[in-house]
Amino acid sequence: MPRGTLIVFEGLDRCGKTTQTRLCVEGLSRTGVKLAAGLPWRFPDRTTPIGEVLNTYLTSKTELGDEAAHLLFSANRWEKAATIREALGRGETVVYDRYAYSGVAYSVAKGLGMEWCLAADEGLPRPDVVVFLEVGVDEARGREGFGGERFEEAETQKRVGAVFDRLKGEGWSVVEGSGRMEEVAERVKAVVWPVVQAVTGRDDEVGELWG
Ligand code: TMP
Repeated sequence: MPRGTLIVFEGLDRCGKTTQTRLCVEGLSRTGVKLAAGLPWRFPDRTTPIGEVLNTYLTSKTELGDEAAHLLFSANRWEKAATIREALGRGETVVYDRYAYSGVAYSVAKGLGMEWCLAADEGLPRPDVVVFLEVGVDEARGREGFGGERFEEAETQKRVGAVFDRLKGEGWSVVEGSGRMEEVAERVKAVVWPVVQAVTGRDDEVGELWG
C-alpha cells in the first residue's frame, strides 16, 4: 500500500509554526489526502509521562542538566516513532510541529556537541519535507507571547538560528514566514503539495534519520 507523507515544520519560537501547521492540515484535508487522526502532532508531546517532565522544565518549574534535557526530548520522539511509522504505513500523512532538528538546534545552541546531539535521534523516521519558517529574531520577539518559556530570549534564539542554518540540507524548504498568514500558507502549500503528490505515487519505505 502506498505510504503517507511525513511533513515537518521547524523554526524559531514564535515564527508562526503552530498556525502554519494547522493551516497546512486544513488545506490537505480539503484536498482529500488521507491524514492521521488528531493532526497536527507536535514535539515536545507534553501529554506523555516524559512530556510532562519536559513541560515542567520548559515552564521553569524544574531544572535539568543540558544532556538530560536533550535525551528526554529525544526519548519523547522515540516513544512516538512506532506510531508515526504505523500511520505512514497505513497511507496516512503526518504533519509535525517541530521534530529532531529542533532537538539538535536548541541543545547545540546551549553548547553541547553536534555529533553527540545527532546520535540520540539517529534512526527516527526521516521526514519527506522539512518546512523551515524563516522569521528574523527581531520580528519573532515582537510577536505576542514571546518570552513566556525558557528559551524565548533573543540571544538564545540567534544561536538556535545559527545551528538551524547548519542543519539545512536536502529535503528542506525555507519559507519566508513574515507577512499575512494566508500569504505564508500559500508559500507553504507551494512546497508541500508537490512532495505529497510525489510520495503518494511511490511505494517506498520511510527513511531513517540522518540519512
Ligand atoms: P514549542 O514552543 O514548540 O512547544 O517548543 C517548546 C520549546 O522546546 C521550544 O523553545 C523549543 C524547545 N525544544 C527543545 O529544546 N528540544 C526539542 O527537541 C524540541 C522538540 C523543542
